[in-house]
Amino acid sequence: MKAKYDFSKGERGKFYNPKAVFNIPNPDGKDVGPKMRLNNKIAIVTGAGRGIGKAVALRFAEEGAKVVVDDVNDINGASTVAAITDAGGEALFINADVSDANEAERLISSTVDAYGSVDILVNNAICSTADVLNNNWESNLAVALRGTSHCSEVVVPVMQQVGGGSIVNIASVNGLIGLQGIHAYSAAKGGVIALTRSMAVAHGKDNIRINCICPGTIQTEVWEPMIERNPQILDEITPWYPLGRIGQPIDIANAALFLASDEASFATGAVFVIDGGLTAGNHQFPI
Ligand SMILES: NC(=O)c1ccc[n+]([C@@H]2O[C@H](COP(=O)([O-])OP(=O)(O)OC[C@H]3O[C@@H](n4cnc5c(N)ncnc54)[C@H](O)[C@@H]3O)[C@@H](O)[C@H]2O)c1
Repeated sequence: MKAKYDFSKGERGKFYNPKAVFNIPNPDGKDVGPKMRLNNKIAIVTGAGRGIGKAVALRFAEEGAKVVVDDVNDINGASTVAAITDAGGEALFINADVSDANEAERLISSTVDAYGSVDILVNNAICSTADVLNNNWESNLAVALRGTSHCSEVVVPVMQQVGGGSIVNIASVNGLIGLQGIHAYSAAKGGVIALTRSMAVAHGKDNIRINCICPGTIQTEVWEPMIERNPQILDEITPWYPLGRIGQPIDIANAALFLASDEASFATGAVFVIDGGLTAGNHQFPI
């Protein structure tokens, strides 16, 4: 029996139209090279003062987005904005604690005041490493889970008004498999995955795509207290990764860029695992 689509001959199916994505018309008809993927989009990134959030904010700005950098740390937030504007991009810092519903509301409304709307929201903020390691249930749930729901619930009506948008939630492999004894963090991240799917189902009709990313170990400042306790910790973790390395913030920023952009126009409710193969299985299994 003939397969419906023969991928070996390059047939991609009738809905695949590369021109729709890559050949963007331009006024004088000249080839202007690849279009910036987030041109004129308005993006909010929570917890963007450092680490993964900072990398996402910088990557989005490189691709033409106007970025609202949210963080509770003024110095770090200002430094992300400076990095973007120094490179010729546009960004604005708003200090809003996403665990507080009123603050989340202020974050979204201030963005609308400044830029007119919101096209992209990345829910990335996380409580302190100490609270993660000490199983502080209140702060893990408040920042990771309720922070994500607060910002998402407020941004949905704004996105509805402009005909759609993209929400990217940063979860974790801890929401998928048991790793260490950080139960509150793992439960909060599992909640983020469930929230992603639930909201994706509810808002597909609004053309609002809601996806999440589950990173494996990413080399950011969160590891500093653990490195202080055990300077070899990242080297000890590395053998668990089939790709032979731990991740860098840019690995997650590129995944977030894809999900935020129109290239992911058929992706919603997806759980995008970016973990160097950690959760694919045990590659050292002795057979
Ligand atoms: N680094 C990793 O190994 C790793 C692995 C899997 C998932 N993640 C997830 O990626 C995301 C970013 O991780 P990271 O390593 O960059 O963390 P990070 O601690 O370096 O950055 C988090 C940022 O959030 C800010 N923040 C804290 N509470 C806030 C609040 N209430 N409101 C607004 N901002 C707040 C902090 O000031 C900080 O700048 C988190 O959701 C984390 O759970 C990280």
